[in-house]
Amino acid sequence: MNTFIFKNPEIVSNKIADKIIKIVNDKPNAVICIAGGDTPLPVMKELVKRAKRKEVDFTKAYFVGLDEWIGLDKNTRGSCIQTLEDNLYAPLELKENQIIFFNGKANNLKKELDRINKFIQQCGLDFILLGIGMNGHIGFNEPGVNFSSDAQVVPLDNVTTTVMNKYFDEKLPLTEGITLGFKQILNAKELVLMATGLKKADIVKKTIDTPPTNELPATAIKLSKNKTSFFLDEDAANLL
Ligand code: F6R
Repeated sequence: MNTFIFKNPEIVSNKIADKIIKIVNDKPNAVICIAGGDTPLPVMKELVKRAKRKEVDFTKAYFVGLDEWIGLDKNTRGSCIQTLEDNLYAPLELKENQIIFFNGKANNLKKELDRINKFIQQCGLDFILLGIGMNGHIGFNEPGVNFSSDAQVVPLDNVTTTVMNKYFDEKLPLTEGITLGFKQILNAKELVLMATGLKKADIVKKTIDTPPTNELPATAIKLSKNKTSFFLDEDAANLL
C-alpha cells in the first residue's frame, strides 16, 4: 500500500482525477465508484472541468454509488445520491443506465441489495475512491463490520449519527445505512482512500499504524490484493 502526500486538497484532487481519467481513457466502459461526503467534491469538480475540455469521455463509463442513508433519496439535500448527482452525474450529463445507485427509500431493501450485488458480480469495479469517517468507517461499514460481506444494510454508529448533521439542513432521524461491503470494495482493481484536512489527521495515523481489525474498518484496505493507496494532503498527514 502506498501513501502519497500532497501540499493541499486541490493537488490531491487533481492527482486522483488524473488517475480516473487515465482509467476511463484506457477502458471507456470502466466501472467507477466515488464516495459521497465532502472529501471527494473537488475531485468531482475537476472531472467535470476536464470532461468539458474533452480530455475524457464518460459516455460509456458506469458509476456505482458507494452508499446511502436509509430513508433518503435525491430529494433530500445531503443524501449521497444528491451529492453525486449535483456535482458529477448531472454536469457530466450521464444517462440513467450509467448510474447504479442504492435507493435509500426502496420498500424492499433485500431486492435493492440483490440488484447492486448482481451488477458488481457481473461487472466488478475498476476503480473506487473512498473517504474515511471520523470513526474510521468506509462507506457505511462501521466499527465491528464483517470484512467478507457483500452489500448490506447496517445500523449507523454513534459517531456517524453525530457527524452526519453537517450534511443536512435540519436534524434527521437516520439510524441505518446501505453500503457496498468490503468483499466488493477490496476486489476493486484499484482503490484510493482520500483524506484531507487536520480533522482527519488522527484517524489517518491510527489507520496507517494499526494492522487490519474490524474495530477500525479503514484498516481493511490493507487486505486488498489490488493496487491500493492513500492520497493525503499535508494536513491529514500531519501526525505521520
Ligand atoms: C460517503 C461515505 C462516507 C464518507 C466519510 C467521510 O458516501 O461513504 O464513508 O466518505 O464519512 O466523509 P467526509 O468526506 O464528509 O469527511
